[in-house]
Amino acid sequence: MIKKCLFPAAGYGTRFLPATKSLPKEMLPIITKPLIHYGVEEALEAGMNTMAIVTGRGKRALEDYFDISYELEHQIKGSSKEPLLKGIRHIQNSCVFTYIRQKEMRGLGDAVLKGEPLIGQEPFAVVLADDFCIHDKGDGVLKQMVKIYNKYKCSVIGIMEVPKSETYRYGIVQGDIIDDNILSITDMVEKPKVEDAPSNLAIIGRYILTPDIFKLIKSVKPGAGGEIQITDALKMQAQEGKVIGYKFEGVRFDCGSIEGFVEATNYMYNRGKECW
Ligand code: UTP
Repeated sequence: MIKKCLFPAAGYGTRFLPATKSLPKEMLPIITKPLIHYGVEEALEAGMNTMAIVTGRGKRALEDYFDISYELEHQIKGSSKEPLLKGIRHIQNSCVFTYIRQKEMRGLGDAVLKGEPLIGQEPFAVVLADDFCIHDKGDGVLKQMVKIYNKYKCSVIGIMEVPKSETYRYGIVQGDIIDDNILSITDMVEKPKVEDAPSNLAIIGRYILTPDIFKLIKSVKPGAGGEIQITDALKMQAQEGKVIGYKFEGVRFDCGSIEGFVEATNYMYNRGKECW
């Protein structure tokens, strides 16, 4: 059973400055719910009950959001606005939140490693809340991935096809097809030049990782800008034949970019009020 979900949320979110000067990117709302709220809902739906959040300086709003606001509760109780708190109350009552800080922004690999004391030695999920994933017709993406994990018992990474011309923006995988939408990953490369990309299958911000990943991250040498890439650790795991790539069902928006954020907002608005 996978019970813990890690949310690396320590990045600066510079593409949304000045908003992200004092507001964590993960708190930007798609209509009425912050991005991380949707991520936690996805993890809850997948059966997880412990949300481990890697924060940094200036990210206190994240902790406050998942805590009770007595003043607000007092003000709103019995009023017509009270139903607006139903969703967040459900989250507060259904799961435990743990936090740890990443002191220096040393990349996603380092952020995941910082989560080790919160995760321990068990398989866990990772959600990048700014990769906003929705599946209208059935299981959420993380729930789909848990099913794949239960079958193969190894790390599972969410992948999707992207135009070849955009491969330089993603981690790109190479692998052997072993079932519908399922690949056994043999290699991966972070943000390759278009001509060097081994495929057009990009890694998105959903992972199920086995705990040996922590040891592998510790052996990764920092790359450009001193950043430790999770891709380098996953590549080592893949070379041991222990990584599955899963082409998920649903849509994904890159809400770390302005265009993706606006598209996601319009998409959710058109889906209707009951979805947000
Ligand atoms: P991004 O590179 O998309 O986030 O990292 P960013 O650096 O905050 O955004 P920009 O480019 O400046 O606008 C992907 C995810 O990994 C987390 C981020 O918070 C984001 O959720 N991350 C990244 C960390 O937690 N720590 C890091 O050192 C780097």
